[in-house]
Amino acid sequence: MRILSGIQPSGRLHIGNYFGAIRQYLKLQAEGHQCFYFIANYHALTSMTDKAALEEITLHVARTYLALGIDPEKSTFFVQSDVPSVTELCWILNCHCPVSLMEKATSYKDKVARGLAPNMGLFDYPVLQAADIVIYDADLVPVGQDQKQHIEMTRDMAAKFNRAFNAEALVIPEPHIVPEVAVVPGIDGQKMSKSYDNTIEIMATAKQTKKRCAKIVTDSTPLEDPKDPTGCNVIALLKLFTSDEEIAEIEASYRAGGYGYGHAKGRLAELINEQFGAARERYAELEQRSDDVRDMLRDGGRKAREVAEATMGRVREACGIITNR
Ligand code: ADP
Ligand code: TRP
Repeated sequence: MRILSGIQPSGRLHIGNYFGAIRQYLKLQAEGHQCFYFIANYHALTSMTDKAALEEITLHVARTYLALGIDPEKSTFFVQSDVPSVTELCWILNCHCPVSLMEKATSYKDKVARGLAPNMGLFDYPVLQAADIVIYDADLVPVGQDQKQHIEMTRDMAAKFNRAFNAEALVIPEPHIVPEVAVVPGIDGQKMSKSYDNTIEIMATAKQTKKRCAKIVTDSTPLEDPKDPTGCNVIALLKLFTSDEEIAEIEASYRAGGYGYGHAKGRLAELINEQFGAARERYAELEQRSDDVRDMLRDGGRKAREVAEATMGRVREACGIITNR
């Protein structure tokens, strides 16, 4: 099966990205599928104007993928902009995408509602994402719940294109969403997101993680009083990291009283630091090997371009774009 997914380099990666997406990338890679994992830097341009930050975060995402176990020997690992024909396919799909469909995009409406001045790139974001997916003939796209609508739009556009030209040029993909981790909450209880300043970063230091966990929003029940574990953000996050038995014990301590939110937050920080300790060490090594990281991306880009060019050949042929190169 052909797998594809990507993450925008618009901020440092967080545990929502890990549980919602990267963990599934690793599992699918281990199962031996043909995986394509990339860094969506053209998408990040819709919201970023800081050149140095875009460059640095692009490499941060690359190092994070590698440190967590994306293996360039097994998966095609690359930067979106190393396959520029994806923007050509975006244009072609634009011509098969009703404006009314784009106007329904919740992530677009959400960003505008939060005050982001909408540029055409932001409006067109789902079409570029559709191009990303279909250019590699992806069957399955591992993502968190927030991306489900974008995959549905991709299916719609690909089917419209095939119908318009009476061709089987594009593969129709399926989303792959794991319900238990589809929406990881942030420290404020909303969806954890780079754009909400509510994340717990994967590649932070142990001390920074502890400080961040201490900021998780809870009610102000005093330490000695009994507490209700339902709806508690700390418990929701703890569930990602520990066994049902330990959760049951912590919940019992909440109900009994004499156990403060600070205790639960401390335990959470400990578990996060344990889980990502080895990856953080690998990340630090990769920081010293930028040339190697760039080489891996270059090789991945080459492989990705070959696959993309085959699809573009079918697409141009299907819709009557002659090439004279
Ligand atoms: P962000 O919202 O932080 O900008 P992205 O939109 O770049 O994150 O998401 C990258 C991947 O991580 C996507 O597959 C997305 O669905 C997933 N993801 C992001 N935040 C979460 C979350 N809080 N819970 C589950 N999955 C998430
Ligand atoms: N929109 C995705 C996100 O914010 C990033 C992305 C771009 C993507 N192109 C993609 C995800 C293709 C899956 C498939 O996370």
